[in-house]
Amino acid sequence: MLDSAHQESSALFSDIAEDISNKGFSIQPAAVPAGLAHRLRQHVKVMDDQRFGAAGIGRDLTNNHNEAIRCDQICWIDGESEVGREWLQWAAIMQRQLNRELYLGLFSFESHFAHYRVGDFYKRHLDAFKGQANRVLSLVVYLNESWQPQDGGELVLYADERDMTGTVVIPNFGTLVVFLSEQFPHEVRVAHHDRYSIAGWFRINSSDTGRVDPPS
Ligand code: OGA
Ligand code: MN
Repeated sequence: MLDSAHQESSALFSDIAEDISNKGFSIQPAAVPAGLAHRLRQHVKVMDDQRFGAAGIGRDLTNNHNEAIRCDQICWIDGESEVGREWLQWAAIMQRQLNRELYLGLFSFESHFAHYRVGDFYKRHLDAFKGQANRVLSLVVYLNESWQPQDGGELVLYADERDMTGTVVIPNFGTLVVFLSEQFPHEVRVAHHDRYSIAGWFRINSSDTGRVDPPS
């Protein structure tokens, strides 16, 4: 089953690679294999709210809670659960294929579930900063069945620092968004309904610290 899901996704990963090379981002509806998406949805649903810690900004540096910029709840996916491992395996195959097609040298992947409660948002931000060459590609997957227009919670992806219009993404079940972390400022508009997603980042090995990051 895993193998067939992976084969199914091979054409998808090629489309993503092509989009990334042409425009730096890719929006793919119903991209996550249906079985995997449903298992992730189930998992996040039953996960005790207490397992979600309040999201920190720049978790590696500080663990400041800055609710003026973002307020959501996250849970890192560490491969503890079967579905977590299945997800990480799917992401690893994407990583390998993107490396093969784009020569990005992606080295590791980190991801977390996020739960935005009613009223939660994430103001315009970048996931990585130029020169720190660490997070290269950002990824978001949505796990919301029957999301309604009045539920808000859209992702807005801006082409660059000056773009004020952006591309609006509805957080529909199974939609996958991938974009260059240093290039695209983005925001999450206020959610008017519980909003579930996975956010992930493919990283290159950060040599600025003078050590080799362990792959994850
Ligand atoms: C993030 C993020 C976007 C989304 O977690 O950094 O920008 O749509 N998430 O959930
Ligand atoms: Mn972000």
